[in-house]
Amino acid sequence: KKILFSGMQATGTLTLGNYLGALKNWVTLSDEYECFYSVVDLHSITVRQDPAELRKRARNLLTLYIAAGLDPKKNCIYYQSHVSGHAELSWILNCFTYMGELSRMTQFKDKASKHADNINAGLFTYPVLMAADILLYQADVVPVGKDQLQHLEITRDIAQRFNSVYGDVFTVPEPYIGKAGAKIMSLQDPEKKMSKSDENPNASIYLMDDPDTIIRKFKRAVTDSEGAVRYLEEQPGIKNLIDIYCSCTGKTPEETETEFDGKGYGDFKLAVGESVVGVLKPVQDRFAELIQDKSYIDGVIKENADKAGYYATKTLRKVQKKVGFPERI
Ligand code: TYM
Repeated sequence: KKILFSGMQATGTLTLGNYLGALKNWVTLSDEYECFYSVVDLHSITVRQDPAELRKRARNLLTLYIAAGLDPKKNCIYYQSHVSGHAELSWILNCFTYMGELSRMTQFKDKASKHADNINAGLFTYPVLMAADILLYQADVVPVGKDQLQHLEITRDIAQRFNSVYGDVFTVPEPYIGKAGAKIMSLQDPEKKMSKSDENPNASIYLMDDPDTIIRKFKRAVTDSEGAVRYLEEQPGIKNLIDIYCSCTGKTPEETETEFDGKGYGDFKLAVGESVVGVLKPVQDRFAELIQDKSYIDGVIKENADKAGYYATKTLRKVQKKVGFPERI
């Protein structure tokens, strides 16, 4: 089986963007690949966190992976901080990454402007840690939303650079971007991506929003002046809603246009809201059950950390030897 790696940050409240852009595809791909799904808590401390809150969110996120349909017996679901190889490989890869490359990362520029009081070195080398995550497991494929493509590109560059010096050490990974839902936009400003950190709560659907809230937010979503449900670049609001609808129902934009031909935005928005509730409600219900089962989740955490650690150490030892560290006796 080919190998798949992906991860998500436990910062903030997950949005429908995280779900449709990533988590949903993870579940679809999980039969086909040997999968590693990490809660990337090392990445989270590039911005200040409340320790108790971070711990709680990390556990919720790990539980959510399972609630979304990932079987922890088949998929390796674990905390990044439980496998020290991530940090160790990241250091080595730092020495194969250029300042210039990292300065071009748009996410760094974005975050640096948002957290101007704390532009730390971790924020800058964030993509290198992400490369380490992926390369540590020799992943062939990495399912992400479009906003992570630049990080995947630099991961490939680092892997190729390392391989050109030491021979074929790393698998060079390919991104996997889902057909629908690769970039879910804000419901209030369709020029911006839907984001955990948006101050306007109506701009994002949160994974734990109850059905009424979801329907209400879609009713309030900004639309366009065309008046028709058409998939056009010129009407980004409706286009985004069609993307969401397609991602939740498996329909195509053309089928959606036909379905709502002659109908108004009101009917369509309600249908989009209902399709989202249909997808999220079962996940929320399973989450509510699982989070109660402390010993089950504890077991998953322990077992999977060991499993991830085993694969990580394999790659790490190989890399350490290649770069010239003394062998362990
Ligand atoms: P993060 O935690 O910001 O987001 C997790 C996943 O959700 C996707 N996503 C979206 N997709 C569509 N529309 C949106 N509006 C939207 N918002 C977020 C992201 O593309 C991502 O796939 N750096 C990563 C975490 C990471 C990682 C990795 C990912 C660390 N190491 C290794 C893959 C492989 C991040 O911050 O994602």
